[in-house]
Amino acid sequence: MPLSYNKLLSWLFNLIVILGLFLYITIYIFFFFFNNDSCCTTQKPLSRYTKLTPYLDTNISHLVIGIASSSNSWTSRKPYIESWWIPNVTRGFIFLDTAPDKHLPWPSSMPPYRISEDTSRYNAFNMHKVRHVIRITRVVEEIYNAESGDDVRWYVVADDDTIFFVNNVAKVLSKYDHSKYFYVGMPSECIDSNTLFSFNMAFGGAGYALSYPLARLVAKNLDLCLKRYPTMYGSDQIMHSCIADLGVSLTLEKGFHQIDLHRDIAGLLSAHPQSLALSLHHLDAVDSLFPSMNRIESVNHLMKAAKSDESRLLQQTICYEMHENWTFSISWGYSIHIYEAIIPPSILQVPLETFSPISRMLWPIYMFQTRRVSNNSCEAPHVFFFHSIEKTAGNNLETVYIRSSPRRLPACSLGGNHSADHISEIRVLAPMRRDNEVR
Ligand SMILES: *[C@@H]1O[C@H](CO)[C@@H](O)[C@H](O)[C@H]1NC(C)=O
Ligand SMILES: *[C@@H]1O[C@H](CO)[C@@H](O)[C@H](O)[C@H]1NC(C)=O
Ligand SMILES: *[C@@H]1O[C@H](CO)[C@@H](O)[C@H](O)[C@H]1NC(C)=O
Ligand SMILES: *[C@@H]1O[C@H](CO)[C@@H](O)[C@H](O)[C@H]1NC(C)=O
Ligand SMILES: *[C@@H]1O[C@H](CO)[C@@H](O)[C@H](O)[C@H]1NC(C)=O
Repeated sequence: MPLSYNKLLSWLFNLIVILGLFLYITIYIFFFFFNNDSCCTTQKPLSRYTKLTPYLDTNISHLVIGIASSSNSWTSRKPYIESWWIPNVTRGFIFLDTAPDKHLPWPSSMPPYRISEDTSRYNAFNMHKVRHVIRITRVVEEIYNAESGDDVRWYVVADDDTIFFVNNVAKVLSKYDHSKYFYVGMPSECIDSNTLFSFNMAFGGAGYALSYPLARLVAKNLDLCLKRYPTMYGSDQIMHSCIADLGVSLTLEKGFHQIDLHRDIAGLLSAHPQSLALSLHHLDAVDSLFPSMNRIESVNHLMKAAKSDESRLLQQTICYEMHENWTFSISWGYSIHIYEAIIPPSILQVPLETFSPISRMLWPIYMFQTRRVSNNSCEAPHVFFFHSIEKTAGNNLETVYIRSSPRRLPACSLGGNHSADHISEIRVLAPMRRDNEVR
């Protein structure tokens, strides 16, 4: 007997329900086990990240930088931003509180500006000591909304007095898979600052980076974070709390420098760890980087070395002249110290304390050891600063360093009285790096 029309329909219906259920369970299992982005499956697909090694080629064009500024601070910060921003190459925006009417036409040497969105809807949750905290915290959300195309891998956030070495930033971020949740930065040099805020926080002035999916998640949750933390001091502190609450912890990169310091940071920059130099901050609060120049000239001077080979900048190299018992400590593109004694790298890697902290309530003061500045002939270096750079025959880069001032100490007698007083200039040859020829 043929199936009746009704029976056929009900049979088909059952088949569809069973198939549908099967399909649903399969899809559910697939997403449950294979998708670690389960909270956001309805957002933009992440399939573009499934290439085999999708992040090793990360370069400057994959970064979007958000700079928090204001129309008032703009004038004093403009030269710092111009020192590192590469027009039409670096991507990003500077966020202002009000229209920059006094500063128009807007210079093409600067990042394009945006006026921060109105934050009055948060008024009930604004008990912050600092006025612009909510506006500045929202820079992450606003750069995400402004540029979230397929080619964005990282969002980098900074203050308007942050100096970046952007190619190095891209290079360092290329170590990390941008399709995963990453929060990359560095706490302060000072124990006081980290105690006050957090040892697990990326300090905002040093700058920090959020991978694409983390920025997306933060943008989605920012309202909640701003309401959960209505009294925090800084935008970086709110951001850190927000990211921690999302289950992501800080990845440290030693090249980010908050510089919660005063006086002369030459001691720090002359003993930089073997990690790409990524940022400098608070340069208005410390002495000029080069004693013979003002602050802005100093930054532009350092950038001359950076433009030739950013990857070498501030990297410390130590070598010995055994006939004289001398030790050379070179911070490429910045300084050279000559010691009239043989001093091992384990000591030279410790910065000379030429600087002081912004606060000294707790002990120890710094996150690292320091060496006291000494008058002992065998411990006090002859100091030379970066003077010029040129390409020489044989595809080499030659950096020249000249003495900053006479040492005015007798020779180190333990080393055999070999004075270096007569040295006035040092030339350093380094092979050119191919991956830096783009600039
Ligand atoms: C950056 O990498 C992309 C490939 O991912 C490439 O198309 C682009 O030309 C590179 N840009 C620069 C400035 O190197
Ligand atoms: C950047 O590109 C625009 C056109 O795309 C051009 O008008 C401008 O001069 C460029 N700026 C610089 C500094 O190269
Ligand atoms: C080093 O010597 C100078 C003068 O000779 C003196 O003013 C200074 O206090 C000394 N510094 C230290 C750390 O002993
Ligand atoms: C180097 O210093 C050591 C002691 O530190 C000494 O014995 C040696 O003679 C010195 N060498 C020269 C060439 O002065
Ligand atoms: C170095 O000079 C000091 C003082 O001038 C002297 O006492 C000492 O013997 C000398 N040392 C050497 C190894 O020449």
